Amino acid sequence: MQVIVGTDYAALCAIAADRIEKQIREKPDCRLGLATGSSPLGIYEELIRRCREEGLDFSRVRTVNLDEYLGLSPEHGQSYRHFMDRVLFDRINIDKRNTFIPRGDGDPEESLREFRACLSGGEIDLQLLGLGSDGHIGFNEPGSVLQDQAHIEELDPSTIAANSRFFDDPAQVPRRALTMGIGDIMRARSLLLIISGSGKEEAAARLLLGGDVTCLCPATFLRLHRDATVLLSRTLADKIGWKE
Ligand code: GLP
Repeated sequence: MQVIVGTDYAALCAIAADRIEKQIREKPDCRLGLATGSSPLGIYEELIRRCREEGLDFSRVRTVNLDEYLGLSPEHGQSYRHFMDRVLFDRINIDKRNTFIPRGDGDPEESLREFRACLSGGEIDLQLLGLGSDGHIGFNEPGSVLQDQAHIEELDPSTIAANSRFFDDPAQVPRRALTMGIGDIMRARSLLLIISGSGKEEAAARLLLGGDVTCLCPATFLRLHRDATVLLSRTLADKIGWKE
């Protein structure tokens, strides 16, 4: 696992955007795995800038997202489909038919079948990840087991609390989500995890400072991946005592 410490969030986003740009230039029809949440926002802004000002071409890029809330329609303001359209897809030259986000409304089993079919339809070249304060990646919550394939996950109370900042009323935060499994994430050719935001110290320390790879902190599985990169700020690195 490669660990890169950047001076600040903007520097981390530039490094991540460089990786994604390199991937697209090497393979214009690559398949990117994308993430939601606050952490990737600066990366998406930088990719939009490169698309508009430097001709970075998304016209043949295909994407699949990590997860979606169950119970929210694609039109809902807090659905991950709506989020991705707003913060990235509507602002770059991607063909939206080539973007996949599992459906949060309708029959969950049917959405799950579609999600699994999508994932088994091709390899992910580069998977972008954020880190949950409880150590989750995608919506793979800590527990006694982690699931290999896409599945329905009951969200941890700490995740519901953390994500309630996006909703008018905490009671509106969905309790369940569809998520790629830990195996789906690990099968991506390369992984890029950006750690940003408050309350991530403990999870970051478990990932970076050694100790066991454990279902109790799903992000620790990144240590077993052949091409995983973790990006964090100097401030966070100092706080948790990470030494290069
Ligand atoms: C959310 C998402 C994750 C995201 C994480 C961190 O619940 N399902 O994919 O990476 O939690 O979110 P944030 O970047 O907003 O801290």
